[in-house]
Formats: sequence, structure tokens, C-alpha cells
Amino acid sequence: MSEFDLIVRNARCATAADVFDADIAIRDGRIAALGRKLPPGREEIDAAGRWVLPGGIDGHCHFDQPMTDGSRMADDFLSGTRSAACGGTTTVLPFACQLKGQSLRAAVEDYHRRAEGKACIDYAFHMIVSDPGPRVLRHELPELIREGYTSFKIYMTYDDLKLGDREIIDVLAVARDEGAMVMVHAENTDCIAWLTERLLRAGRTAPRYHAQARPMLVEREATHRAISYAELVDVPILIVHVSGREAVEQIRWAQGNGLRVYAETCPQYLFLTAEDLGVEEDGHGRMHGAKCICSPPPRDKANQQVIWDGLESGVFQVFSSDHAPFRLDGPDGKMAAGPDASFDRIPNGIPGVETRLPLLFSHGVLGGRLDICQFVALTSTNVAKMYGLYPRKGSIAVGADADLVIWETGVSRTIRNADLHHEVDYTPYEGIPVSAWPALTLSRGQAVWRDGRYVGEAGRGKFLRCELPTPARPKASRETA
Ligand code: URP
Ligand code: ZN
Ligand code: ZN
Repeated sequence: MSEFDLIVRNARCATAADVFDADIAIRDGRIAALGRKLPPGREEIDAAGRWVLPGGIDGHCHFDQPMTDGSRMADDFLSGTRSAACGGTTTVLPFACQLKGQSLRAAVEDYHRRAEGKACIDYAFHMIVSDPGPRVLRHELPELIREGYTSFKIYMTYDDLKLGDREIIDVLAVARDEGAMVMVHAENTDCIAWLTERLLRAGRTAPRYHAQARPMLVEREATHRAISYAELVDVPILIVHVSGREAVEQIRWAQGNGLRVYAETCPQYLFLTAEDLGVEEDGHGRMHGAKCICSPPPRDKANQQVIWDGLESGVFQVFSSDHAPFRLDGPDGKMAAGPDASFDRIPNGIPGVETRLPLLFSHGVLGGRLDICQFVALTSTNVAKMYGLYPRKGSIAVGADADLVIWETGVSRTIRNADLHHEVDYTPYEGIPVSAWPALTLSRGQAVWRDGRYVGEAGRGKFLRCELPTPARPKASRETA
């Protein structure tokens, strides 16, 4: 009887630090040995000539999150993790969202019920803190952080989620005391409200005006303010879904001055522009532009380049999908308010959990912009380190979970929603070519995606408690390392 359940043979492995050739032996869902000419396993897979990478970790995605505007997320933990697995992701971190007036613990307990029995890959929770009253600040938040919910998101916009400045400072202080990571959605809510009112009064209601209601200055100002508060309180923060130059400049300034300011960006800021929200004469109607409404909005080609440069130079530590799945059609989708709905009545967010890795591998690594180790760092290792899942997740190492992806490169494929596994009726990336796609995704040694087929099992995914303090957060910037 073999001592190993599975051997992935002749793997060309990459981690965030190294590239090496090895056989990977898996036992009881973990990597049991790395070496050459390992003895036979009960099952063998030949990976000769192909990259074998740590499974992707999506550190920012929304599944089955309760909404207050009548909309509903199309993906729950079943379809969301299925879609993730088919695109090479083996761990997800969606958000247990506190609604205003709700206890934070109740939000976390509710989210566990939503996840129960559904996930096919492992998952941890971030929290969203929207109502930091005394009980939350003194009891619930510190206790939940100590119980393994070590990161939470705060919003500087959206009426149902946003915090005031004093509230932001108060929650940052709790994060400092407890060692938690705070993710910040940085957009200035009052500027957005003022601009939105003016646009609507002028009859400028089409989706393209969403970008005009949220110009870069509102992101720049809020990013600057969040950084200032983090400096005041002396706590690390992560600015999420950074869209372009002006926010990047703020982050670069902070990193250059030794502040622990981390940054995340997402595919929409590399592959979409404001023109995808519709142009005057495109003839597609509002549906087309509604597909790409997300916040911050996509910018222009020059800003795409700034984001690519930031990924390459180390301004960004994390590349996430911000998968926020709303159908276009249907009573709870993007167009629920009708075909002439003004931009401010269209739910914000776009799907992307399955396409995140193939897009970045194809256009980043194979496109010559990123090396393979940077790809692993941005999409897996740094995420695991940021949120306290490393070294169990995010690496190829003896003792780590056998979350592995064998990549097929040299494929000639175009992204089509019909090929994806989410429950959303569109992808904003329709028609974009990709030259890499996972051939096999292993979650703790078990195939969940193999040769173009989903082979996962709902309920097999385990909930992960995140560690505190994180063993080693990534450096805030390569230049300041
Ligand atoms: O537009 C977006 N990004 N929607 C999802 C929620 C969020 O702010 O991340
Ligand atoms: Zn956000
Ligand atoms: Zn989000």
C-alpha cells in the first residue's frame, strides 16, 4: 500500500519566492513530501511541462450578502465557490455584513448559516462593520477578532453601510488594540451625493454618468483621509479596489513614508474602462452599461496602465475579484428598477471570481508584465499572509494544505459567460481572449475542477479561522522593503 494518496509528478512549481521542479506527494489533504522520484502514490497525475501553483485565494468577494435595496446576490456559497474553483481559486473570503441596527455577532452567525453545507472549497469570513456602537466596539468586535474573524471592511460611502469620520477612528483603534486588518472602501460619500443630485437634475441618468458621479478625486480624497486616520491611530490598513493614478499616488506616498498602508486592485481596473458604462451613441441601451457599474468605477486606458505598473512595482500586495454578483434580468437584478432606471438605482458590483486568475495569468504573466512569482504572491501568498491563513494556505510546502492548480498555458480561448459557473447572466469580460486556464484544481488534494468539468462536492469546504497576529504580513511596498 502506498504511503501517499496522490502524487503530482514532474511539477514545475512556483511560489511567491521560488521556481523549482518537484514531485508533490499528498496525504490526508496535505502536502506530505516534495522531491524527485518519489515512490508511487495510489493515484498519479503527470504535470510535465505545466505550471503547478498554490491555489488562488480570493480575498475580496461577496456571496449571498444580505442587501437592503431589494436586490439579491445571484451567487450563494454553492455557486460562488463552484465558480471560484473552476477558475483556480481554492479559498475565498467573503463578508459577513452587519446591517445598521444589527449585532455584529448576529451577522456572523447568520453568515455561517448561509454558508453551511454549500461550499466546495475552504472559506474564511471578513466582517463588514456598519454600526459600531459601544457594544460592538467594546465587546463584539474584539471578541470576534480573537475568535478568528481577524479582518473587517469599512465603507466611506453607501448610505446603508458608511461610517462617519469619528466612527472610522474608533474602529481603527479597536483594530490596533486587537491586531486586526481593516479594509477600507475609500470614496467620499458627500461629494458623490452632491454630484449625483446635480447629474439627475440635469437629466443625466444613464449608466455612464455613474463614472461622473464618482470621479477620481472622490477616491483620492477618501484614500488620503483613510491613510491619515490610520497614521493617527498607528494601525495598518488595506485600501481595497483601487482604480487609478490619484489613489495610487496617495498610497505610494504613504508607503514611501513608512506607513503600513497596503493596497488591493481588481480585474475591472485592468480590463474595463468608463466607456464600458456606455457612450452616447453606442446603441446598446442601459442594460449594456449597467453590467459594468461598480464602485469605484473603471477609469481610462492611462489609468489601467498605472494599475499594471502598481502591480509590477509592488504598490499592490493583493489582487482580488470583488465578485459582487447581480443578475441583469429579473426582479432583484441590476435592472429591477426598470429599463430607464437612473444610474444611482442600479446595484453596484460585477462578477469575476472565476475569471480573476485566468485574466491575470494570461495578460500579466504570459503578457510579460509580471513574473510567475509575483502572480503567486498577488493572488495567493500575500492574501494568506494578510489575513492570517499562511502557511496553511498560499504556498507549496510540506505541511501546507494541498490546494494546488495545474495550469494549461498556450490555450486559445475567449471568455464567454456561457462557459462560466456562476449564476450571473453576464460577464463584463465577455469576448476578452485568455491564453491560460486551470486544467486541474485540487482542494486539499481532491479535484474540484478537472479537464473542463466541475467535479466538486457542496459542503466539503471547511470554515477557516484566521490567525492572530498574522505571522508575517507582506511588506507594504517593494521599494520600501
Ligand atoms: O461596486 C462594488 N465594488 N460593489 C461591491 C461592494 C464593494 O464595495 O466592494
Ligand atoms: Zn467596496
Ligand atoms: Zn467588494
